[in-house]
Amino acid sequence: MKKGLFVICVAALLTAGCKQTGATEEDRFIDNLLSQMTLEEKIGQMNQLSFDQPLDSIKAKIRAGEIGSMLNIDPKLIDEIQKTAVEESRLGIPLIIGRDIIHGYKTVLPIPLGMAASFDPQLVEAGTHMAATEAREEGITWTFAPMLDISRDARWGRIAESLGEDPYLAGELGAAMVRGFQGEHLSDSDAIAACVKHFVGYGAAEGGRDYNSTYIPEILLRNVYLPPFQKAIEAGAATLMTSFNDNNGIPASGNDFLLRTILRDEWKFDGFVVSDWCSMSEMMSHGFAADRKDVARISANAGVDMEMVSQTYIEHLPQLVAEKKVPMEVIDNAVRNILRIKYRLGLFENPYSKPGKTSTIYCDDHLKTARRAAVESAVLLKNDGVLPLKEGQTVAIIGPMANAPHDQLGTWSFDGDKNRTVTPLKALQSDEYKGIKYIYEAGLDYSRDTDTSDFERVKSAVRRADVAIVFVGEEAILSGEAHSLSNINLIGAQSELLKAVKSTGKPVVMVVIAGRPLTIERDLPYADAVLYNFHPGTMGGLAILDLLYGRENPSGKLPVTFVREVGQIPMYYSHNNTGRPAQDQITPLKDIPLEAPQTSLGNTSFYLDSGKDPLYVFGYGLSYSTFEYGNLNLSSNEVSAADTLTVTATIKNNSTTDGTEVAQLYVRDLVGSIDRPVKELKGFQRIFIKAGESQTVTFKLPVSELAFYGRDLKKKVEAGQFDLWIGPNSAEGLKASFTVTE
Ligand code: NOJ
Repeated sequence: MKKGLFVICVAALLTAGCKQTGATEEDRFIDNLLSQMTLEEKIGQMNQLSFDQPLDSIKAKIRAGEIGSMLNIDPKLIDEIQKTAVEESRLGIPLIIGRDIIHGYKTVLPIPLGMAASFDPQLVEAGTHMAATEAREEGITWTFAPMLDISRDARWGRIAESLGEDPYLAGELGAAMVRGFQGEHLSDSDAIAACVKHFVGYGAAEGGRDYNSTYIPEILLRNVYLPPFQKAIEAGAATLMTSFNDNNGIPASGNDFLLRTILRDEWKFDGFVVSDWCSMSEMMSHGFAADRKDVARISANAGVDMEMVSQTYIEHLPQLVAEKKVPMEVIDNAVRNILRIKYRLGLFENPYSKPGKTSTIYCDDHLKTARRAAVESAVLLKNDGVLPLKEGQTVAIIGPMANAPHDQLGTWSFDGDKNRTVTPLKALQSDEYKGIKYIYEAGLDYSRDTDTSDFERVKSAVRRADVAIVFVGEEAILSGEAHSLSNINLIGAQSELLKAVKSTGKPVVMVVIAGRPLTIERDLPYADAVLYNFHPGTMGGLAILDLLYGRENPSGKLPVTFVREVGQIPMYYSHNNTGRPAQDQITPLKDIPLEAPQTSLGNTSFYLDSGKDPLYVFGYGLSYSTFEYGNLNLSSNEVSAADTLTVTATIKNNSTTDGTEVAQLYVRDLVGSIDRPVKELKGFQRIFIKAGESQTVTFKLPVSELAFYGRDLKKKVEAGQFDLWIGPNSAEGLKASFTVTE
């Protein structure tokens, strides 16, 4: 028949609608299509392949209805391959074309950890929308983002792809990313389907080693790891990816509790679930499945709708259905979920790429968005008065990251063109900054370089300048998937480079460009100012100069705790209290007397060598302005679960520089049916305040937002006393208290 009959019905359904039963036109369309599919064609929809076989062999499989989705196709081939699906397969079902568009497609934004430092949902939404627009233009209809894994371990390379350590921040920004990717309607020419990943707990990999096991009890899953996913799904995320890790001994791709009970029954998710790359067949290595047939049975029954790459479904589901080990209903539901998203993407009407009259790729608007994102993502960690720089000064440009066009793009930048990267050095050569006199001497060729033979030349260059800017950090390859580190100090001879520069006596600005929070405490004495950039993308160099020269005022805040030493990990602001919290004064290791009596240092919770505090707390970040918080006011000191608390404070910009402050709202539930964190972020706002002026910041806090899963695993607000803070970070701020009544 080829696709004659189907096409007629599709056309009719898409216009007037076939007279079928079913709740909505979408349902009728899907039911109708499903009723025409053979079991093999259904299973074909559940199969996703990577473009790593000869084109002819892929086309033959598509023609036979054996593939529902492809990833990693050369964009130039997308239309050709899609044509095979639409015009040469029996039912003409289009493919959904996936790609890792993690922080921009061609125009590269800062890595997600950097985007998170902006604390700016609107910007995050605009950035992901920009990425979607560029990608859909080339026929890509599905991205594998956002990654919502709560990340509290900087050794884990994938912290770069995360939105940091906090469930509230990750949830707000994750939802913004979903809105940005998916636009108003998935079928629009500037929208692609989002995929929230990795479900779930992947960021808690033991020891920060990628793919490692996690042990997260359900109560912690529900209070910390699941909330960002739920928010992104409520924002309409079309798809979800399972994670590689086994949690409590159950690999995510075989976990029906996660995929059915939580995702479908509780959250009512109606999109489709894809496995991660071979995460299904890897259940054999985990020791959770005996063979490939077992893999297909476990994952299909657990609720994985589409298998990425490992192909056990196509091999074994026909037999498993015949043996009644996988019910037909499971297959039908999986296919329905997949077809639903294809339908919503408008693929049955518009399967091909959508080039506009002029391409949006690297257009001025996108470059502007990328520059703004890089500006807002940078965090000023230290400033002893050397910043902002004066444009009349001669600067020495030092360090391996000053001109690293590939590395500046960060991990997961398959499509970004390094020739379009504006590095700091290139930015100095641009029209905007060409008036600045500089001397460039890298000193080290790349971040791991240990050859110090150029250091004398570096010192001589610095002596000829008024100030030195030392660009240090990490190459892109040192973070991201499978790129964990056990030592997160500045790598190579970068710390020595900084010392060499400082030895000249000239003021030193340290600019870090990295994929994770590095342990930089030992470097701080050699820097008069520190500007931290998580790999900032295409426009990073201009953004960094904008900030260094005060054309922009830093406003980024840390989305993750910076530890002093790797051995402090995990350390995060939202921890529970021990029964013996550390005392404020801790005797430094060197001052401990010889043969000190065992209990003379106190019996509390801290490290003898690195104390109780991190280097920089979550939410920290300086500005060229100084902000003073005052007049904290609560609409009531006694509220019930149905109320909304209005919290206000004034923020005064005490400086002569206009600036933006990220005001943060934290609460603490003092006594609960389980121990509650010492602080939890419940709101944040970016507020622009002119020099010398004040603004009132208002937070509306529904008391229902204080609910958590307690001992009985039910989510509710527990009555009692709460503390509340509004402040510039998770350690400072004005404090008040209120009571929640029964
Ligand atoms: C494996 C990664 O874990 C996942 O995040 C990514 O989307 C897929 N590979 C596809 O490339």
